[in-house]
Formats: sequence, C-alpha cells, structure tokens
Amino acid sequence: MTIPTTPPRKRLFIRTFGCQMNVYDSGRMADVLAPLGYGPVETPEEADMVILNTCHIREKASEKVFSDLGRLRVMKEARAEAGHKMVVAVAGCVAQAEGREIVARAPWVDIVLGPQTYHRLPEMVARAARAAGAQIDTDFPVEQKFDLLPAPRAGQGPIAFLTIQEGCDKFCSFCVVPYTRGAEFSRPVAAIMAEARGLVAGGAREIALLGQNVNAWHGEAPDGSTWNLSRLLYALAELPDLPRIRYTTSHPRDMDDALIRAHGEIPQLMPFLHLPVQSGSDRVLQAMNRGHKVDDFIRVTDALREARPDIALSSDFIVGHPGEKAEDHAATMALVGRVGFALAYSFKYSQRPGTPAAGQPLQVAEAVKDARLQELQALLRRQQDDFNESCVNRDCDVLFTNPGRHPGQVMGRTPWLQPVHALGPLSLIGTTARVRVAARFPNSLSAILLDQKELACA
Ligand code: 5AD
Ligand code: SF4
Repeated sequence: MTIPTTPPRKRLFIRTFGCQMNVYDSGRMADVLAPLGYGPVETPEEADMVILNTCHIREKASEKVFSDLGRLRVMKEARAEAGHKMVVAVAGCVAQAEGREIVARAPWVDIVLGPQTYHRLPEMVARAARAAGAQIDTDFPVEQKFDLLPAPRAGQGPIAFLTIQEGCDKFCSFCVVPYTRGAEFSRPVAAIMAEARGLVAGGAREIALLGQNVNAWHGEAPDGSTWNLSRLLYALAELPDLPRIRYTTSHPRDMDDALIRAHGEIPQLMPFLHLPVQSGSDRVLQAMNRGHKVDDFIRVTDALREARPDIALSSDFIVGHPGEKAEDHAATMALVGRVGFALAYSFKYSQRPGTPAAGQPLQVAEAVKDARLQELQALLRRQQDDFNESCVNRDCDVLFTNPGRHPGQVMGRTPWLQPVHALGPLSLIGTTARVRVAARFPNSLSAILLDQKELACA
C-alpha cells in the first residue's frame, strides 16, 4: 500500500485476497482514495472504510469473503454505537460475479464494485456517505479504468507490480476469469513505459509485469505498430536503474520463440518463470480446453532451459477435473517428474458456477481428489526442497526489500524469487548485493553477504 503525502484524516483498511493483480489493484484503490483523505491503517476495527478485494477463483476463496463480512458487521455496529460510520466495500472478482447477491446476503455492505470500476470509487464513497442503500458498479469499461486512475504513487518499494494486461479470452473449462475479468485487454506501450519510469524513479529495482494472460499482451506502440511481450521486455531492459524484470502469469500457448529467446538475451529478465500447465494428461488438457498438449509444454520448457540454463520453473496444477481418471493423474505425476519444478501451486478442482466444467457429469469424488492432491504435493514439495538445497553454497544477487524479523537482519529475494535473510545494514534495502546462500528452510533461505564493504558501513 502507498503512503499519502498529506496526513490522513480518514482510516482505510484494505484486505486483499487472491493473486498479484489484486495486490496491484488494492494499491491503485488506495491511490484513488488518498486525495479524499484516506490513509492506510493496519487493522479494520478502527477503520472508517474497509475494502475487501476479493478472489473468486475457487470456492474456498470466495467463501472466506462472507466469513470476513460477518466479522465486519459486528465491527460496523460497534463503531455506529460509538457514533462513527464504517463504510464497507466489496471489490474484485466476487463482487463482479455475485453483484447484488452480496448485498442480499450481507445488507450491511455499502459498496460493491467490480475490478474495472475502481476509478469510480471516490464517487461511490461520496454517494455511500450520503445515501441509504448499497452502491453497485460492476461494468466492464476496462480501457477507462487505466485511463482514469491516477498515476501510481511512488513508494511501492523495491519490488513493484505493473499491470499491463487484463482479462482472458481462453475459456478454460474450470475457470471464472473470463467471466469476472472480462475479455483480454492490453494497455498501450506509452502508458506502460511511463508507469515503469515512474516506478523506477520512486525506487523500484524490480518490476513484475502482471496480466491474467500476460504473454498474450500485444500493445499499440507510439509509431502505430503493435508490440508483443518480448519487444516490450527489450524496451524495459533499456531503462537505467532497473536491474530486474519479471512477468506473470503466462500461458504455455503464448510462449513464442521470440519470448523464449528473450530469456537468453536479456540479463535483467530473472531466471524464473511461472507457467501453469494444470495437467499432464492430453485427455484432460483437451477437456480443460487448454489448447496445448503435454509435448508442447515439454518443448517450451526444454527450449527455455536451453536459452537460459539457470532458469527455474513454477506451475499450477488442478487434480480431479471432471473425467480425470487414475491414468490421467499418473500422467501428471510423470510430467512433474520429467520437467521438475522449483515451486508449484496445486489445487483440488473446485466447481465454479457458470463455468463449463461445473455442469459436466463424471465429477471426481472428494476422497479421490484428496488422495491425488496429497500424492502430487508430496512430489512437488520434494522438488522444491531439492531446488532450495541446490542453492546452498551457491552465490547469487539478492534484491533487499525490507528489514528482517530479527535485529540486524535484512530480507530480500533471490533471482528465483526465494525469500532470503542475511545479516546486514538497513542501507542495503533497495539495492542488490552478492550473497552466498548458507542454509535452506521450508520456504526461505539464509545467506551471507559477500561484499564485506557493505557490512563495514553498518
Ligand atoms: N478449481 C481449482 N483450481 C482452479 N484454478 C482456477 N480455477 C480453478 C478451479 N475451478 C487454479 C488454476 C489456476 C490458478 C490461478 O488457480 O490452477 O492456474
Ligand atoms: Fe483462466 Fe484459462 Fe484464462 Fe488462465 S488461461 S485465466 S486458467 S481461462
């Protein structure tokens, strides 16, 4: 979240669920509300406005929103008794998908707004303060959203997110994104480059380009031509003071040769790529409408490794898609064994209303999904541990981002996105420094600074 330049008169609490695109959107909502005097606070109890920025991707994620809303009702009533108003807003994909349903289930909600209407938030807040009854806005004017939002304020920190693309036209059988985020939209080159320059001027040393289908991005350039993602990456690599670039999330179908080549040619492009495959069975990939086969995925990952030998891969998997048989699951296990992942997210298939797979017969029994998920996660965990182990005693650059939990410690990220802590001065924050990895823990590493001169400045 960003820090306003004028002292906040009103307290804003935003809780973000789900993906990095929501993290980016939460920052932009804070930016939009800052001129109205809203400043961030750490807890919802004392807030004048609470925004839940929601995720609808799996049932569990959207149910969490309603349990949070139950707790907010109690807080809102307590604040009302003390003579204060608390505005409760539901934003993001649950808001988009469920709209009025939310107000029917939770009438104490004042504002419901979809992911494309954040620029209208100030107007809705003003109306909510005056009017009785909830304000609901779940339109899809995606171009307007980016045009009308203020430029992000500096101060996202050394790692900044930059949304370049939203929405999805691929319609995987299981996925709500095409319905909640709408059709694919790519921001133009000039807007992206201006935002990137602003982020770097504000101290960003790593920019993660975001999009639901980020490698399908194709933006209009100032000369009227159309750029694809690889072209944009080469342009970003020209920016001074930007040592790190990433992009997420990609679809295997859109990993073209130029983009693969860019991984070998752009040193700033970090050697880590999230490339969801979902299943290792051609039959299931077809049922999922993924538009690629297992062999295509293997070809792409082999080519990436050839272009950039130190690249580490991460992926998403779904077990128990309707119709998935034991042999399909075995094929997923085999693919994981063949490719090898440094990190992965795996989920039990969750029926999402309105998606094609939700209505299919041959839903897989919960107990079967549980067993398959356990087996897959055990293998993925082993691979993650092996990858982290392979980093021990290795030297790499770390971008330091914040103080560590213990005195004298600083935290950062390796090129492979692992969180890492080291003993060193706070002046390292916002810079990259060479370290030797000393030990691994389940989800992080410890390291020793190699440049002793840095330590001498402490
Ligand atoms: N059930 C389970 N997992 C899902 N994902 C998306 N939709 C579903 C669903 N209905 C997972 C996919 C996707 C990640 C963001 O969430 O693996 O890549
Ligand atoms: Fe969902 Fe598939 Fe689009 Fe990814 S590519 S957002 S999984 S529909």
